[in-house]
Amino acid sequence: MDLQRLQPLPRLPARGGGDRCVQRHTHAFPGGAAGQQLAHTRGARAEQLPEFFPPIEPLDGRWTSFGPMSITLLNLHPTPADLQRLVRDGMQRSPRQLPAWMLYDAEGSRLFEEICRQPEYTLTQREIMLLEQNAAAIAAATGPGLVVEFGIGNARKVDPLLTALGSSVFAALDISLSALENALTGLANLHPGIALVGICCDHTQLKQLPHHPALEGQPCIGFFPGSSLGNFTPEEAVQFLANARQLLAGGPLLLGLDQPRDPALLEAAYDDAAGVSAAFAHNLLTRINRDLNGDANPEHFRYQARWQAHDQRIEMALVSTRDQTVHLAGDAWFFRDGEAWITEYSVKYSPTAAAELAERAGWRIERRWHDPEDHLSMHLLQPAD
Ligand code: AVJ
Repeated sequence: MDLQRLQPLPRLPARGGGDRCVQRHTHAFPGGAAGQQLAHTRGARAEQLPEFFPPIEPLDGRWTSFGPMSITLLNLHPTPADLQRLVRDGMQRSPRQLPAWMLYDAEGSRLFEEICRQPEYTLTQREIMLLEQNAAAIAAATGPGLVVEFGIGNARKVDPLLTALGSSVFAALDISLSALENALTGLANLHPGIALVGICCDHTQLKQLPHHPALEGQPCIGFFPGSSLGNFTPEEAVQFLANARQLLAGGPLLLGLDQPRDPALLEAAYDDAAGVSAAFAHNLLTRINRDLNGDANPEHFRYQARWQAHDQRIEMALVSTRDQTVHLAGDAWFFRDGEAWITEYSVKYSPTAAAELAERAGWRIERRWHDPEDHLSMHLLQPAD
């Protein structure tokens, strides 16, 4: 069974075949039984495997089918060569920092879901409630369209939206193939009638939706919940929003952001008592060790999450506990005792700051829904012109 997973799934024509295409794709997988076994053994393998399909077919935009029925996947994951180049770039920055998406291999995606269940990290539960309570109003405000989620989060976030919109197709972009498979499998159970299209990619780099018959013929509705925009610096966030505006081709964007609040509570949310946030950061080292044949020792770095008022953000870092040299893909990187290796930022935006940011990227905020305590909100962005 393992081999099945490692080998490219049956090749399918990239396009053509008209509207029968989706149907054929979804049944192209060799038999339900194989699909079932694949699903059962996936958990066990996920931790040992690199996030890439190793002898991968060139990432050339071939659609494959996955799982029960209605799921179609496209793998555009950055290649090992991309990873190596980006790690080299990141290690030359001061302070050192890698792209946040590298936190999300299979194990990282699993740990992030566990963070979302920690009592200190209230964002996910609050946002699910907000969406459940306002889905009808949100759907009325966006009008019908194809929901395109940037980074598949908890399926419970998009679920009420799909219901309210009466969607027949849903597309998700995510850096982690295993996260896509898991979330879409969950959604397939909730919405057996919806065609689910997963695109594994770094969504900051995607300029347009790939060609697929199911994705054509209706306007897009972008969905970017979870305050994930906070991972970017404000400059990167503007770039991302401008890019999303192009990708959505005139459609609106639903943007979920949480706001600055008591620093002690925020620091606790990003350094939970159970140590899951710390494990999530340490897993970055495990991941790059595996993918770049490295020797970074997670035990020689301590995790730290600090509120930086000036930048209105939580800075998460691994702090070197000694002078040490880390080898990655043949390069040697020296760390001083006490030197910080940033794993990610989480910038918090007040409604005013969010409006300013949106404007810089060519959007205007048309509406805002917030939770009872006003810790977070879902913004409806429309192209400014
Ligand atoms: C996925 C970027 C929204 O910033 O709250 C949570 C990531 N990292 N705890 C966040 C995260 C550690 C999370 N985002």
